[in-house]
Amino acid sequence: MCGIIGYTGLEEATPILLDGLEQLEYRGYDSAGLALFTPGGSLQRLRAKGRLSALRDRVREQAESGADLRGTAGLGHTRWATHGEPSERNAHPHRSANGLYSIVHNGIIENFEALRAEMEAEGVAFTSETDTEVVAQLLEKLDTGDARETLRRTLPHLEGSFALGILYHSEPGVLYCARRQSPLLVARSQSGTLLASDAAALLPHTRSIFRLEDGEMARLTAEGITFFDGKGNETAKSPIEAARHVTAAEKGAYAHFMRKEIDEQPEAVRRTLEPLLRSRQLQLGEGERALHDPGDIHRMIFLGCGSAWHVGCVGRIIAEELCGIPASAELASEFRAQKSAINSHTLCVIVSQSGETADSLMALRLAAECGARTLSIVNVEGSSIAEESDCVLFTKAGLEVAVATTKAYSTQLAVIYALCARLAQLRGTWSGDSLAAFLHGLTALPDQIEETLRTCEAPAIAWAQELAANEHAYFIGRSLDHAAALEGSLKLKEISYIHAEAYAAGELKHGTISLLESGTPVVGVCCRQSVTAKTKNNLEECAARGAKLFCLTNDTALRLPRQILLPRCHTLLATSLSVLPMQLLAYKCAELRKCDIDKPRSLAKSVTVE
Ligand code: G6P
Repeated sequence: MCGIIGYTGLEEATPILLDGLEQLEYRGYDSAGLALFTPGGSLQRLRAKGRLSALRDRVREQAESGADLRGTAGLGHTRWATHGEPSERNAHPHRSANGLYSIVHNGIIENFEALRAEMEAEGVAFTSETDTEVVAQLLEKLDTGDARETLRRTLPHLEGSFALGILYHSEPGVLYCARRQSPLLVARSQSGTLLASDAAALLPHTRSIFRLEDGEMARLTAEGITFFDGKGNETAKSPIEAARHVTAAEKGAYAHFMRKEIDEQPEAVRRTLEPLLRSRQLQLGEGERALHDPGDIHRMIFLGCGSAWHVGCVGRIIAEELCGIPASAELASEFRAQKSAINSHTLCVIVSQSGETADSLMALRLAAECGARTLSIVNVEGSSIAEESDCVLFTKAGLEVAVATTKAYSTQLAVIYALCARLAQLRGTWSGDSLAAFLHGLTALPDQIEETLRTCEAPAIAWAQELAANEHAYFIGRSLDHAAALEGSLKLKEISYIHAEAYAAGELKHGTISLLESGTPVVGVCCRQSVTAKTKNNLEECAARGAKLFCLTNDTALRLPRQILLPRCHTLLATSLSVLPMQLLAYKCAELRKCDIDKPRSLAKSVTVE
């Protein structure tokens, strides 16, 4: 996934590149680097292993030693390792053997081993273990003296995905870029032009942003941008509607973005529901198009990765119950691994915070190829998934910075509720009092989220104090409570590194119960009224084997050990409340274990490789 930034213009490039990388660091943070044209026209490079702060330190040291990294055109990169360990020599930018080309790359070159072997046999000396370096070496090998033509000839040799930023040593002040499958944006600012893998790095400079399409290339100078198609022909472009509401996020008084984002959930859900549910009337705007001829929808598939897939697990249950449509939630990466029986009677709902997750994007494309209706639930305007699906419902979570999602997840749930209820209404499977009760519950949800956050903090801290020293934990629940348990366990393992597994409560006795020992923590979610009695039995089975129980319920009659009592809500909406103490539990455990909460090791917020 990695973050890419480039600038050419009238200003000093280093601060612009470093600040851009700061915005992009969530995409990867194991090493970072810069390459710049010096005023004399030569190429200078600086790289450092670790967080961006390590690169900043190197830049500062260099300045103090009098060897300033000066220049008004260059590229920056923050890496999430795919090939080759995180190290300075594997950090981007990568350079060709004779220094003709310096490049930054996001994506994976799948045939890099063959290309490397071929060039090594020809005597080319490689200096890194990355797939990226083959691109720099291949550009040099195929160099025609015209970088644009060289690039056009080189790209067809590459298999896999890429967003590339390129400096050609014979053209100081010029940046080239190209993309296939990985996102890349270019922009014009007052002082020059920029490229970046994400709008967040461009928005402080400009709103005049252009999306490079698959197979396109661009040439950036201080004066302007020229776009080319794969044949090298110039093309014209219009700017995109880039995330109007995105502003640089500040932590304020909070120690971490995640904690702040947890607290932002009531407002984010309120904002998301506002256009969908006015005066208790459902209206999906653009989303209505995906629901035309509702009787013709014979199957629904929710697609996503990570937490977005967990949202799909909730959607699957609600769609079946409300709309009477056979539904499944599929991991986007798995969806593509085999042939699915989908066609024009299938509605595929792609859930993605970033709108750029490669697996989800590829799943969307496959669904579209099969003729399915595609509707996406996305947080980032102008993102690839939002642009490519038939229609999109935006979550209004605002910029989410912490890698572990909280407010985006909650807003995705809110959209799923509105979507399923509207479809049920249109299909006539749900009307009258039941629908009115659901919409009443949905209207009350933001306030209930607020109330839950207020009342759950203290008990979640108490839970964390008992749980944080463990290395394993289990989360169990049935139906929607199982979907919530999946998210609760992911939150805990993502940020506190406690191994946590979610199990359907009834399935525990078919295997995992053998792992329970005296004191093993088991978090039980008992909020779906129809199944709480059964889950309670499963919890008792765990306790009988020595497990330490931590229970979430909204049923005052249950009386479970270490019980957190949640507000009573509509039974189909309970996930939105039960997830909250589990978010807080994960956060507090990570804090007690002194983990890097906003940037957990090896993870990245936007995963643009398959
Ligand atoms: C990454 C993140 C997860 C996230 C998943 C899907 O793996 O670490 O937290 O749920 O990507 O991201 P998306 O942007 O598609 O929702």
